Amino acid sequence: MIHVTDRPLILAIDIGTSGTKVLAVDALGQVRHSAHASYSFESPQPSWAEQSPQLWYDGTLNAVQSLLSNPEIQADDVVAIALAGQMHGLVALDAHLEVIRPALLWNDQRSAPQCEQYANQLGNEFLLEHTGNLMLPGFTVPKLLWMRTHEPEAYAAIRHVLLPKDYVRFKLGGNLISDVTDASGTGVFDCGRRRWSKAMLEALDLPPEWWPPTAESLEVVDQLSPSAAKEIGLRAGIPLIAGAGDQAASAVGTGIIKEGLVSTTIGTSGVVFACSDHWRTTQDGALHAFCHAVPDTWHLMGVMLSAGGSYDWFCRSLMPDIMDQAQANGIDPFEEITERAGGVQPGADGLFFLPYLTGERTPHADPRARGCFIGLTPAHDRNHLARAVIEGALFGLQDCLQLIRRLGIQPDSIRLSGGAAASELWQSLSADVMGAPIVSTTTSEGTGYGAAILGGTAVGLWPDVPQACEQLVRERRRTMPSEDQVVYARLHERYAQLYPILKEWWHETKPLP
Ligand code: XUL
Repeated sequence: MIHVTDRPLILAIDIGTSGTKVLAVDALGQVRHSAHASYSFESPQPSWAEQSPQLWYDGTLNAVQSLLSNPEIQADDVVAIALAGQMHGLVALDAHLEVIRPALLWNDQRSAPQCEQYANQLGNEFLLEHTGNLMLPGFTVPKLLWMRTHEPEAYAAIRHVLLPKDYVRFKLGGNLISDVTDASGTGVFDCGRRRWSKAMLEALDLPPEWWPPTAESLEVVDQLSPSAAKEIGLRAGIPLIAGAGDQAASAVGTGIIKEGLVSTTIGTSGVVFACSDHWRTTQDGALHAFCHAVPDTWHLMGVMLSAGGSYDWFCRSLMPDIMDQAQANGIDPFEEITERAGGVQPGADGLFFLPYLTGERTPHADPRARGCFIGLTPAHDRNHLARAVIEGALFGLQDCLQLIRRLGIQPDSIRLSGGAAASELWQSLSADVMGAPIVSTTTSEGTGYGAAILGGTAVGLWPDVPQACEQLVRERRRTMPSEDQVVYARLHERYAQLYPILKEWWHETKPLP
C-alpha cells in the first residue's frame, strides 16, 4: 500500500557508467530536484572496463543524501524507489553475498574469444532460437565464460550473478532479483518467453541457481531495509521497484512504448530503439531483441559502442586548447567545438570517420573493428575532423535505423535524447542523416525519468505506463530534415562501403610485438 502523504515523491536512481543520478519526481511528473555523484571506470588493459560495485552504492548514498539536503525535499514524502542503470555488467557474488571481483562492464571487450568459441560451437541459429540474440562481448555471460578460463579460483567462488542496478537494489533491500529488460542483456535469457533459458544455461554449463528471479519492470520486488534506511536517510519499508536497464527506461522516459515509435539516444554509446508489440528478431541477429519495460512488449535495438564517446575522445584528445579556452570564457566546450564543426560543409570535404574506437556491436558485431579517419588531405583542419566525427557517429545510427526500417517499422519521426539532444547542430544533422523529423521531448532526464514513471505506476500514481507517458511526455522541439538529406543519403552509402573493405585487415592483422 502506498505511504500516505499529500506530496508523494518517486525517487529514481540511474546507475550510470560515469556516475549515479538521482531524481525526485512528484505526482504531476515534475522533476523537483536531482543530484549526481561521479565516478569513473578502470581500464587495466586496452578494451577492458571494470568498476567496483561499491562505487555504485556509495554514489547512490551520496546522491540521495545530497538530494535530501535540499529543504524542499522531505524524506517522508518518498513513496517508492525505482532503479535503472547501465546494462550487462557482471557482478559476481560468493556464498556470503560478497562481491568477488570488480564488475566487468558493458563496454569491456575482453571476451571476444569466448564469443567466437561458443558461436562456433553452438551456432548462431541456436543462440537466436533460445535468446533472440547473438553472443556478444558486451553481454554478461561471455564475461563469466572469460572468468571461467582466466580466473578459475574466483569463478569457483561464484554463487550468484547480478546486474549493476540489481546489485544496488539488493544493498537497499536484501533481495536478489532482476527485471526482464536487464536480464535480456545477459545472453542466457529467453527474451521471447521472458524467462531464463534452460537450454542456453545447459549448453554453456552454467548453474541455473546463480540467476536471480526476474520480475516485470513495474513490479514492487522489495522494500528498503532498516539498515539501508538508516544509511541513506529514508524511511524503512519504502517499496523498491524492479526498474529497467537504461535503454528501456530511457525509452519509457521519452514515451517510446508503442509499436511504430522509435528513439535514438546519443550518450557514450549510440542507440536506436524501436518498440514492438510482438516478439520478433532480425534473422541474422544484427539488432538486439530484448524485453521492454511495458509488460507484453519488446524492443529492437541497435547499439553503437562509441557515438558520443567518439566525439568526447576527439574533443579531449585533439581540441584540448579550444576546450580550455571555452571553459575559461564560461562557454560549454563541446558546444564551442560543435559550432566550429557547423561551419564545415556536409561531408567535411571528402573526410570520413569510422566510429569504431572500442569495436562495434551494431550493425557490425565486431570487437576487432577500430576507429579511423579516411580521406585526409592538407586542406583539412581540426574543424573538418570534428564535423567528420559527428557525421560518422550519425552514419552509424543511420545503419541501425535502416535495419529497423527493414523490419517494417516506419517511424514518422525519431525522438532524440542524451547529451546530443541539447545541441541544435546534432539535432539538425540527425534529421538530415536519418531523413526523418527529429523530436526532442520535455523529459530530458530520459533514463531516470523512465524509472520514475515505472516507480509511480507501480505504486498507483498513474494507471499504467502508456497513460503516464501520454500525460507526461511532451514534444519540445521538432527539427525537419533540410535539403542536405539528399547529400547525406549519398554520403551514407559511401560510408557503409568502408567497413567491409577494412574488416579483413582488422581481422588478419596481428598486434605488433
Ligand atoms: C545497452 C548498452 C548501453 C549500456 C550503458 O545494450 O550496452 O546502453 O547499458 O549505458
